[in-house]
Amino acid sequence: MTETNRIFSGVQPTGNLHLGNYLGAIRNWVSLQGEYESLFCLVDMHAITEAQDPKALTASTLEGAASLLAAGIDPEKSLVFVQSQNPAHAELAWIFNCIARIGWLNRMTQFKDKAGKNRENATTGLYVYPVLMAADILAYKATHVPVGDDQKQHLELARDIAQSFNSQFGVDHFPIIEPLIFGTATRVMSLRDGTAKMSKSDASDFSRINLTDDADTIAKKIRKARTDPDPLPGHPDGLAERPEAKNLVAIYAALSNQTPEQICQEFDGATFSTFKPALADLAISILAPMADETARLRADPEYVRGILRTGAEKAREMSQPVLAATKEIVGFLAP
Ligand code: TRP
Repeated sequence: MTETNRIFSGVQPTGNLHLGNYLGAIRNWVSLQGEYESLFCLVDMHAITEAQDPKALTASTLEGAASLLAAGIDPEKSLVFVQSQNPAHAELAWIFNCIARIGWLNRMTQFKDKAGKNRENATTGLYVYPVLMAADILAYKATHVPVGDDQKQHLELARDIAQSFNSQFGVDHFPIIEPLIFGTATRVMSLRDGTAKMSKSDASDFSRINLTDDADTIAKKIRKARTDPDPLPGHPDGLAERPEAKNLVAIYAALSNQTPEQICQEFDGATFSTFKPALADLAISILAPMADETARLRADPEYVRGILRTGAEKAREMSQPVLAATKEIVGFLAP
C-alpha cells in the first residue's frame, strides 16, 4: 500500500531562510507541488539537536513558515506543518533507533562535521538526527524526497532503515525512498567566500541574502560581494579557479532560469561593475516581492499559525494508519 507519488521534505527553522535555501530547495518544492502530493515540514525537532534559544526558535518557526508561503508553497496544494506538532515523528524515530546500527551512524559525515573535535560533548540527538529524518519521511510512506547533495547520505540511511525493517519483520511495509536531486538545484556559496556554502550560521550577514532582505539590502550585499579583478570569461571553464565569480554567475543563471554557459556568453568580457548591478536588479525583481509578502504574513501570525495547525492535523491523519500498522508489525499491544 505504497503511495506512488508522495514527496516529503524538511527545512530547519533556525534563523532566516536565505537564497541558498531558496535556490537549493524551496524553489524546487514550489515546482513539484502540482505534480506530487507534497508535505513540507519545518523540522524544529531537528533544530534542537544543537542548542537553540527557545524564543528565537518559536519566532523563526513562524518566520520560516511565512517565507515558505511567500515563496509560493500553496497550502491548497501542499501540507505545510511543524514537525513537533505531529508526535508520529518521535514515535517512529524510536522504533527506528532500534533498527539502525551504531556502525551506520558512525559513517555519517554531517555528524562528524557538526560534532567537530569535541564529539563526546555532542548530543545524542545530533547523533541520531538521520534516524529522525527517516521517520519524517516514512511516517507518511513518502516515496520521493527532494534534497540537496549534502543530504544524500542521510537518505541512503533512511533506505537502509526501511529495508532492514522490512526484512527483520518479513514484511513489505515501508517503500524504497528515491531521492529527487535536481538538475536545477544550485549550491549557493557565501558572498564572502566562494568555497563555503551560504549558511545561516555564518557570522557575517553580508555572506548571505536572506529571504527577508529588502531591495536596498540585497543591492548592497551584491555590491559588496567578494570578487576578483578579472572580467567575466566567455565560457564557464574560465571560472574554474574563480570561486566567487563562479558563484555570482551560478546565482544569476539560477535566478534567470538559464545555464552558466548562457550567462557567460551574454556577459563575455564584462567587468563586475557591469555584472553586479545586473545581478542586483534580477535578484531584487524576484526576492523583494517575496520579502514584502513575508512581511505582510508576519503582521498576521494567526493566519500563518492557522495554516500550520491545519497542516499538522492533516499530517497526523496521514501518518496515523502507518504508525498503527508499524506498531502492530513490531508487536506492540494495541490499546
Ligand atoms: N536534514 C535536512 C536538512 O538539513 C532537513 C530534513 C529533516 C529533511 N527531515 C527531512 C529533508 C526529511 C528531507 C526529508 O536539510
